[in-house]
Amino acid sequence: MGFVGGCEPWAVVLACALAWGDPSPSGVGDPYYPDYGNGGMDVLRYDLDFTIEPSDNALRGVVSLRMRALQELPLFHLDLIGMDVDAIEVEGVDASFTREARELVITPARAIPADAEVDVVVRYHGEPEGVPDPAVPIEGVGWFWHGDSIWVLSEPGGSAGFFPCNDHPSDKAAYTFDLTVAAPYVAVANGTLTATTESERGVTYSWSAPEPMATYLVTLAVGELGEKRIPMADGREVVLHFPKDAPEKRYAALERSGEIVTFLETKFGPYPFATIGGVLSSLPIGAALETQGRPVYGQSAGASESTVAHELAHQWFGNSVTVARWQDIWVSEGFAEYGSWLWSEHAHGRAAYDREVAGARTFAKRARSRPSGDPGVKQMFGVPSYQRGPLVLHELRESLGDEAFFALLRAWHEAKKYSNATVDEFVEFAAARSPHEAATRALLRAWLFDTVMPGN
Ligand code: TRP
Ligand code: ZN
Repeated sequence: MGFVGGCEPWAVVLACALAWGDPSPSGVGDPYYPDYGNGGMDVLRYDLDFTIEPSDNALRGVVSLRMRALQELPLFHLDLIGMDVDAIEVEGVDASFTREARELVITPARAIPADAEVDVVVRYHGEPEGVPDPAVPIEGVGWFWHGDSIWVLSEPGGSAGFFPCNDHPSDKAAYTFDLTVAAPYVAVANGTLTATTESERGVTYSWSAPEPMATYLVTLAVGELGEKRIPMADGREVVLHFPKDAPEKRYAALERSGEIVTFLETKFGPYPFATIGGVLSSLPIGAALETQGRPVYGQSAGASESTVAHELAHQWFGNSVTVARWQDIWVSEGFAEYGSWLWSEHAHGRAAYDREVAGARTFAKRARSRPSGDPGVKQMFGVPSYQRGPLVLHELRESLGDEAFFALLRAWHEAKKYSNATVDEFVEFAAARSPHEAATRALLRAWLFDTVMPGN
């Protein structure tokens, strides 16, 4: 799907080609992850039809995607790691293919003309595994097989471990899911449940997530799951999923998702997606991932209010306004963590907010970390994002005052909703709206890009 209200991803790639490195069929030219995503294509829609046996981690997949060729394509790439590919069709005609590392190279019977839209169907099967990533201090990201359950947390590059895709956040798309599992298992994905269909193979759970979504925000959960629907005062509902045997205290903070979203709307503007909820996993990790409309929490994270507030703030910043390149991670993590500070302030008073500021300052000062605006792959999910990152916004709030600061956050989300953004774009957006344009630009540039944090 192209950028909404902005330029097309390819135009951005070209405009940024010098800073980004050259796009090629095997990568969009992301400086941190040169082989992630693929040049020359824009995926509009993915339909993921999966049959899953969680007891032996077996996946049989038929992925149909509709894509637009941004240039003439005698061949094109998708990202896919592992899995056995059985057959590929382009516009209903068999295509040939080869595999190299994360690249699935597809040669259609006839070259796809520039600007044409085509349907691609990939049939495959196998046992998905997590994808090792230097940014994340766990064995792999993506597909987690744990006991008789499956959880998916893919940021940044784990989606390619279980479905063929253009695995870069600059190419968002709409999704549907048809997930077939046998009882007693239940299958959940992003979006809303549109049908459950029984057959001799089990039950097919159909989910639909129409708003533009980056590949790393796709999630599935398969297991013996319980579900809880909590009505909100305004008629919306919070939908929670959890392991059937999980005690309620494990998702006590998740049960407050509606209240937290309602509060964040007063600061950020309307919540951008049709679903509000969360998945408590059985994974023995303290982390969570902001998967779209339905974040996934480690087994101990669903009890943490600040984690829930962080993941819900990501729905505006990270999911609706998404990084253009991975080095722009501050537009996601800096804002999400700041959202969690705002929840602290709202729920526990200004002193709690001040403690967040002081704590982050001490921590960021001590750590020899890189700046938030270019943290490097290894610190993408470290101090530059979670401590110095929200401090940047704190400093901006102090300098602009509450009224102008929150108006700016709302205007930024409104302007960039469902699209992508760079750190520099935020700096220029804020400067252009400031009564002290040069000072605001200088403050943000120092806080975002100076090696040494200002004031030290
Ligand atoms: N974005 C996550 C957060 O909200 C951190 C994260 C990145 C993560 N990759 C992950 C968590 C993979 C779990 C698994 O801070
Ligand atoms: Zn985050």
